[in-house]
Amino acid sequence: DAAGKPVISSQETSAALLRAARLLNDNETVAFPTETVYGLGADALDAAASSKIFAAKGRPPDNPLIAHVSSREMLQRLLPVAYTIPPIYEILMRHFWPGPLTLLFPSNPDVVPSLVTANQSTVAIRMPSHPVARALIALADTAVAAPSANSSGRPSPTRAEHVLKDMNGKVALILDGGPCDVGLESTVVDGLHDDGNLRVLRPGGVTVEGIESALRAEMEDSAAIPRVLVHRRDFRDEAMERAPTTPGMKYRHYSPTVPVVLLKTSTPSSTTQPQSAQAFLDSVVRERSSGKRMRIGLMVPSDSPLLAKMTAFDGVEWVPHLLGRLSEPGISAQRLFDGLLTLDNAGVDLIVVEEIKEENEGLAFMNRVSKAAGEIIWIDSSQP
Ligand code: TXA
Ligand code: MG
Repeated sequence: DAAGKPVISSQETSAALLRAARLLNDNETVAFPTETVYGLGADALDAAASSKIFAAKGRPPDNPLIAHVSSREMLQRLLPVAYTIPPIYEILMRHFWPGPLTLLFPSNPDVVPSLVTANQSTVAIRMPSHPVARALIALADTAVAAPSANSSGRPSPTRAEHVLKDMNGKVALILDGGPCDVGLESTVVDGLHDDGNLRVLRPGGVTVEGIESALRAEMEDSAAIPRVLVHRRDFRDEAMERAPTTPGMKYRHYSPTVPVVLLKTSTPSSTTQPQSAQAFLDSVVRERSSGKRMRIGLMVPSDSPLLAKMTAFDGVEWVPHLLGRLSEPGISAQRLFDGLLTLDNAGVDLIVVEEIKEENEGLAFMNRVSKAAGEIIWIDSSQP
């Protein structure tokens, strides 16, 4: 509240929503749940209000914000006058809105201030599906600019308590809507290129496979189906490299205060020798322990062979935060930031995370964890 003391409402009461909407209309910031992660919201049409987001997060001014809308009519208000939404976006919106998909549109600086778009020629817009987010935006009756509700560089919060820990005193109000379903951020898609292809600037809650199957379902002429371009180990797109794509992706990101090590069990490049789990853990204790018994956060799928291999090592205390089964990348995605933040807050000395396949939600998982990790270690899972 005004005294700088956040209020956590455990219930989606209309009183809390009305209060939050009034704060937005008074150009204050409000943290609120979305289906992806918690957002730090302010009136997207007001530069003074949105500048408070940059200040609270310590966010670089060249990193644009996503404007959140609750209706098609509100979307249209943000766009250039008489702008016709491209047919490919109509398909995507029909399939994935409301939901974790952000689309780039041509910006209209007369409506959305250039502070919000960081002077890009485009504006990123999404319609969230979380009922609290939608009600809040509709009640405020204005588009809400909202990055994830964390200090710049930290993992995105998936619970109100994560927001409270990080942003206490920096936000007027926090709405508690429980843990987020998706657990990592929306997919950012640019479909404005002349070649008609869709470029995934940030993988996220809507999967590339999901987009491809929506396009196949909707487009009769299979030759006309656009490609969905996304950077992977074996693919780089020139237009995406050249353009000032998603400015946020260039910054160090998603790191808890405690170091994170990414464990790879896939085949390493020819110059890297994989080590046994035992050898890796011996070196961790040798190099990182300060005499007392280390506590290590362990984030692996529950049916990963690494779980037994790691926990067999009893020279450290294990604090597990399991990632669902190997066949459930959606659960791994949901638990990633939650695990990093929960283990960090539990005071572990190190977090180790096992890689998962870059398929479905696994692509976004690996995108985030690669940025969070300070080090990559190859483990030979055929050895003990
Ligand atoms: O799921 C989400 O998208 C969450 C929730 C709160 O909705 N929001 C979120 O916002 O992740 P943020 O600010 O943490 O990430 C927005 C990303 C950044 O990487 C930013 O650079 C990119 O979207 N972005 C925003 N506007 C853009 C634009 N006009 N062109 C290219 N990238 C843009
Ligand atoms: Mg963020």
